[in-house]
Amino acid sequence: MHVTLRQLQVFEAVARHLSYTRAAEELYLTQPAVSIQVRQLEESIELPLFEQIGKKIYLTEAGEELQRYSRRIAEQLAEAESVMEELKGLHRGQLNITVATTANYFVPGLLAAFNKRYHDVKVALDVTNREGLLKQLELNETDLVIMGRPPHDRDLEFEPFRENPLVIVAPPSHPLARSKRIPLSKLASQTFLVRERGSGTRIAMERFFRERGIHVKTGMELGSNEAVKQSVQAHLGLGLLSQDTLTMELKLRQLKILDVEGFPIMRHWYVVHRRGKRLSSVAQAFKGFLLDDAYVRKHKAQIRAQ
Ligand code: PGA
Repeated sequence: MHVTLRQLQVFEAVARHLSYTRAAEELYLTQPAVSIQVRQLEESIELPLFEQIGKKIYLTEAGEELQRYSRRIAEQLAEAESVMEELKGLHRGQLNITVATTANYFVPGLLAAFNKRYHDVKVALDVTNREGLLKQLELNETDLVIMGRPPHDRDLEFEPFRENPLVIVAPPSHPLARSKRIPLSKLASQTFLVRERGSGTRIAMERFFRERGIHVKTGMELGSNEAVKQSVQAHLGLGLLSQDTLTMELKLRQLKILDVEGFPIMRHWYVVHRRGKRLSSVAQAFKGFLLDDAYVRKHKAQIRAQ
């Protein structure tokens, strides 16, 4: 039996919630990533762990047994980790971090998880758009930054740690909301609401359409993701946004992701700092925390090649 700790951790979360979606939310993974981990675990132990009846999933007998073991393993690991951290004296200090406006939708959750491990760490979190982030890095005003892929011509070290799919959204009553595989050419007749200049989302959107020779009409320019979402709901045009910003609106069915050819645009979130910067032990710990993920290890080479 060859199982990894990560597989057990993912399994434990699915077993606790009896939901792939909620486990994915808790672990900051996509739902397919969670399903793959569980499937691989089932393959290596050669027994099914869950069974699906109607829309619900249930633990099998093997699943129940494994849940007991994985809980104990998780407890032991957490204890070992906290003992090691005490030894390193990592529980104190201040983490200065600046994140892209768009990353602000998931970073507080990550900071909460980090804080559970490092209780006495104080966090100073600043939020600004891509242009603002690059300026802060240039002026050495922050320890770490979370942003879309930074430009190559700056003296920066950066590592990807999470997917950032960009999607097109419309109000649910929009004529295209139910269409399947909408051809890109159909978007040329649509008005798009855009973020302010200096936004990474906007730069990615403009590049995507430019490279495909599609000229979309741009409507209002809005200074935040929230303003774009509100304006899309008010039928002022379509929006192109990071899926990370949409959790609430999708749940409440206030917005619908359009099924457009070539979408989502798959970007990634990067943890960034100036090359050669001496990171404090807290900043190093947070960077390690972000990168300590099966997704990162598995996809690093692939993301770098993009
Ligand atoms: P934002 O996003 O600048 O549009 O908030 C950051 C990025 O995607 O680079």
